[in-house]
Amino acid sequence: MRASDRALSRSLNIADLRARARARLPAPVFDFLEGGAEDEITLVRNRAAFSEWALVPRAFRDVSQVSGAVEILGQSLEWPLIVSPTGMPGLFHPDAEIGLAEAAAASGTLYCLSAMASRSIEEVAASTTAPKAFQLYIFQDRGLTRELILRAKAAGYAALILAIDVPVPANRERDRRTGMTIPPRLGLASLLAFARHPAWCWHNLVRRPVSLANFSDMRAEPGSTLLSFIQSQFEPQLSWTDLEWVAGLWGGSIAVKGLLHGDDVERAVAAGASTVFLSNHGGRQLDAAVSGLDMVEETAERLAGRATLIVDGGIRRGTDIIKAVALGASACSTGRAALYGLTVGGRAGAARALQLLRSEYERDMALLGARRQDEIERSCIRRLR
Ligand SMILES: Cc1cc2nc3c(=O)[nH]c(=O)nc-3n(C[C@H](O)[C@H](O)[C@H](O)COP(=O)(O)O)c2cc1C
Repeated sequence: MRASDRALSRSLNIADLRARARARLPAPVFDFLEGGAEDEITLVRNRAAFSEWALVPRAFRDVSQVSGAVEILGQSLEWPLIVSPTGMPGLFHPDAEIGLAEAAAASGTLYCLSAMASRSIEEVAASTTAPKAFQLYIFQDRGLTRELILRAKAAGYAALILAIDVPVPANRERDRRTGMTIPPRLGLASLLAFARHPAWCWHNLVRRPVSLANFSDMRAEPGSTLLSFIQSQFEPQLSWTDLEWVAGLWGGSIAVKGLLHGDDVERAVAAGASTVFLSNHGGRQLDAAVSGLDMVEETAERLAGRATLIVDGGIRRGTDIIKAVALGASACSTGRAALYGLTVGGRAGAARALQLLRSEYERDMALLGARRQDEIERSCIRRLR
């Protein structure tokens, strides 16, 4: 058995994969994966929110057949956890987005590719026949934004996810301390941390330097990197007409990711979104923002089934998914859990992370007494404080 296969089979949960991922990456790269904005209050809240709820199981139910099947963004999924868009996973393992997409397909769920990906829209589309979604940012250059939409459409992506929570880059102090900024400003301690991981340096700095694959034909302005140029393209002046413009160009199933306020959810649905992601970007944008889970119940009540509700942030166990569903979410989404797996074992590692979460979810449904998602009822969950 190869060392990475052994590491995967010995990882019994997402926390085990996280510990192994941490050991595998240079510290500044792990901090980039793991960290949040400023005091990381929201990053911590994303986990803490789940522990404020407890499950109340039902008895005398035949749970010999349990199915988490659900329809999300027009796709029939085998269970309600999709893979969130994350920028540049090539930093964590050379399998990068291809590994994540293949793992999601093998697990019977949907993969969302980020605009800030390390593999291109077309390369990832060709990697599996399974349906995928593409996550877009609206850039100041609307021509560039339009081009991305049309490329995703031509490549056959099943849905478009518009992320609206990066009007300006966030203040991630871990990255500023380590020098993982744009452009990088590595100090001596960070350089030593990289020197301790020669295999990582070989893959990422020599063999296939990580780049923003969707913009590879663009030239940065003299004196700036492509990454800093694209970051300077984030749009601080978004308006609702931009959402209508994107929905019109796309013409298919569209989700808005990064909403937390109920009024905004209403406006997004009125502007054509069929799906809403309650998300604070994994605690990486506005620190002190509420967690997605905090907003699920009131948003679900307000929507009353008019749109599909997805929540992300802090999903690390099958019971986390059950709690979100009991409060009214249709599905959850995960960023870091899949990335920890990818880091430890590439495609097989990402698949292990999803397999662990799926088997926890299905076992926990049976233990709760729920055979189908609609049996995970509001009465099965209580707030502890
Ligand atoms: C390393 C990393 C990169 C991310 N990049 C993006 C991105 O490019 N686009 C996006 O919409 N969200 C991005 N996110 C946020 C995720 O889509 C998701 O909202 C978040 O990871 C959920 O929290 P979790 O990691 O606790 O599951 C990123 C998150 C991480 C950890």
